[in-house]
Amino acid sequence: MVERTLSIVKPDAVKAGHTGDIISMFERAGLKVAALKMLHLTPDEAKGFYIVHKERPFYGDLTKFMSEGPIVVLVLEGEDAIKMVRDIMGATNPKNAAPGTIRALFAADIERNAVHGSDSEKSAAYEIPFFFPSIEIMGL
Ligand code: CDP
Ligand code: MG
Repeated sequence: MVERTLSIVKPDAVKAGHTGDIISMFERAGLKVAALKMLHLTPDEAKGFYIVHKERPFYGDLTKFMSEGPIVVLVLEGEDAIKMVRDIMGATNPKNAAPGTIRALFAADIERNAVHGSDSEKSAAYEIPFFFPSIEIMGL
């Protein structure tokens, strides 16, 4: 099924200059960029984005990290895009990320792990409109 998913190049990876490499990895896998922008979240905006994790012990540190500098957010479209992006990202903890994945290449640790990708259709349906109104998403 053709799907759309939300990905984020996180502040660590933007700062380190990996934005282009990360987007290239998605495009080389056949995914299409349907929307793209750079922005700097406030702590409250980061809390809103990660609201599903509000009871988790890492919520405070995670939302501080996600608001420490600019991020690049993108909508990716393609056949099985949600799973495909998750596969290209690699495991949350870079110690467990398969060789060649974004997190194996660029993540420092389980928090500062370079990239986000929606984990389900339900997550994508919350996360895409969190950043993009429909007129900013290209029909491909
Ligand atoms: O991003 P992913 O879906 O792989 O993982 P998650 O379980 O949804 O967690 C969201 C984010 O919280 C992770 O990408 C990490 O940045 C952070 N996290 C953390 O700091 N410590 C953990 N034990 C788990 C996640
Ligand atoms: Mg997640």
